[in-house]
Amino acid sequence: MRAPMGVQTRVAARDRSVSRREGVFAMPDRRTFILALSMLLVGCVSQGGDDGGTGPSRQTAPAAGTSPGPPRPNAHDALIDAVERRRSVRAFTGEPVRDEDVALMLWAAQGVTDARRGLRAAPSAGALYPLEVYVASAEGLSRYIPGRDEMRRTSGDDVRQALALAALGQSFIAQAPVVFVITGVYSRTAGKYGTRAERYVHLEAGHAAQNILLVATRLGLGGTPVGAFSDDAVRGVLGADDGETPLYVMPVGHPA
Ligand SMILES: Cc1cc2nc3c(=O)[nH]c(=O)nc-3n(C[C@H](O)[C@H](O)[C@H](O)COP(=O)(O)O)c2cc1C
Repeated sequence: MRAPMGVQTRVAARDRSVSRREGVFAMPDRRTFILALSMLLVGCVSQGGDDGGTGPSRQTAPAAGTSPGPPRPNAHDALIDAVERRRSVRAFTGEPVRDEDVALMLWAAQGVTDARRGLRAAPSAGALYPLEVYVASAEGLSRYIPGRDEMRRTSGDDVRQALALAALGQSFIAQAPVVFVITGVYSRTAGKYGTRAERYVHLEAGHAAQNILLVATRLGLGGTPVGAFSDDAVRGVLGADDGETPLYVMPVGHPA
């Protein structure tokens, strides 16, 4: 699989749009500011706290002791839509996943989003970044290198079947065009957080996995976070040493 370059382009485009947005808010003149504030207040009063359609909102404030009721996601909000539509997918068409989509999911899992400070897309206790992300496909096995947005090939073998066997025979893993594996290196976090390190690393794997799943959903793909597997067997498939603990196996593809 070639090194993904699409991520940088998308990130650069997004950065430009963010700075444009920041530019708008950077120096509002007094009249614009007062006008915007009045419109916001009028909107809040007339819609009972509704945010004007920019995010999930509720029709009325819930009375004390009652359920708030279902949120009304704005259909145009891609993130809310992905949160709502994400489901575990265990059956895939044979259609391959495009390299740039794999790259985007890797970036969402562990990509560097603030190069100056070295911060990544998923939060990390103490910014110590104990996670590693691998991708298995028909072409082989690769490890993601955050910051460079590239995948380093560690094996030319198709290990998806071996991952399915390591995951107690969950055969849908072998049917997926790509299988992400998230591992954790506890020692990177333990130096600062001691006995809480394992907890933190597991929490972080959840953040990274959810980012992959939401981006997959947004791209029309689907996947399942698989936690039932033999650690030793997955470690063996990855060629990882004892210091690296497999935390999630995540098959992703086009839902059948
Ligand atoms: C920690 C964890 C481990 C899981 N392990 C497996 C697994 O080994 N095999 C599997 O098919 N699904 C696994 N799942 C997916 C759950 O079965 C699934 O999330 C649940 O049924 C809810 O469905 P949904 O994901 O479509 O909302 C796991 C989910 C989590 C959070």
